Amino acid sequence: MRILVTGGAGFIGSHLVRRLLAKGQNHVVNLDALRYSGNLENLTDVAAHSRYIFVHGDICDATTVEKVLKEQGVEVVINCAAETHVDRSILDPNSFARTDVVGTAVLLEEARKAGVARFLQVSTDEVYGSVEIGSSKEDDALVPRSPYSASKAGGDLLVRSYWTTYRFPVLITRGSNTYGPNQYPEKFIPLFITNAMEDQPLPLYGDGRHRRDWLSVFDHCGGIEHVVRHGEPGCVYNIGGGNERENIEVARMILKQLGKPMSLIRFVQDRPGHDRRYAVDCSRLRALGWSPTVPFEEGLKAAVEWYRSNLTWWRKIKSGEFRAYYERVYRQRLEGTG
Ligand code: DAU
Repeated sequence: MRILVTGGAGFIGSHLVRRLLAKGQNHVVNLDALRYSGNLENLTDVAAHSRYIFVHGDICDATTVEKVLKEQGVEVVINCAAETHVDRSILDPNSFARTDVVGTAVLLEEARKAGVARFLQVSTDEVYGSVEIGSSKEDDALVPRSPYSASKAGGDLLVRSYWTTYRFPVLITRGSNTYGPNQYPEKFIPLFITNAMEDQPLPLYGDGRHRRDWLSVFDHCGGIEHVVRHGEPGCVYNIGGGNERENIEVARMILKQLGKPMSLIRFVQDRPGHDRRYAVDCSRLRALGWSPTVPFEEGLKAAVEWYRSNLTWWRKIKSGEFRAYYERVYRQRLEGTG
């Protein structure tokens, strides 16, 4: 297959690119705007691969997208390009509407015009909103509560409309909280690992008892690939890890593994509109033959080891743009004044 992965220099995108290249005879085109979390260092091992091409460009730019689809003879599009961090969406909501809604609209329309055979939208379980009990099924109502999840929900609705309106063969995956190597250290797990390694406080929002279902990036990419190959056009598939944990428990596991004191945990002012819990029902994807393989304890241990062995990767990030962001989100919180 000739596959276009957008956002292929990001966290999930880069793992997906590597996985697709390792399987069969896939040709992979990576279109990435290389904004703050897009990092070609995530792909140095495959940069010279004969079936891999990198194109620097934005999914919001119809001319670029049209050209890539045509010149590369793309048969399958997997849209991983997105603004993804909830705290950033609170600071700058418009950039989320731009990439996650408008960018998706542009990419979809160009893909439809080019007649691609399959279009997969990588979405999130956050579109269902906070789920206090039970678990979300694919046909549940979308009740997003942050500018991030609302933008992703907007993208999902557009993608679905292309099935009902044009019978354009779209698929949507809604993954749960993903973790693993190469995740930008603004997210909970890599932030807490790297802060702990630097003996810095771990800023735990609210009472620390919010719950997330942790999914290894390897399982997430396996699920996406499974849906591309076997999913039914027009369908949505949840991808969850089956590893529900309270945030405080995860923070303690990280500190324990690193041999750091529990006193590094700092309870700070909560995130506005903080969703209490996410949980997805994955029976639809399981019925298609997929199930997660990485137990959380093992996956987290491997992730901690990865950050331990790749100091240059994350230290470079933490000394750049990240510093100003961290200051904005955490300074007052850590001083107990915000
Ligand atoms: O559920 C899937 C989603 O998971 C993805 O769609 C998003 O792109 C991804 O960012 C993630 O969203 P969350 O908001 O759940 O992830 P985050 O890593 O920001 O936070 C995980 C939990 O940890 C959440 O309850 C907030 C809490 N947290 C997070 C940070 C960054 C803290 O307590 N302190 C922090 O400093």
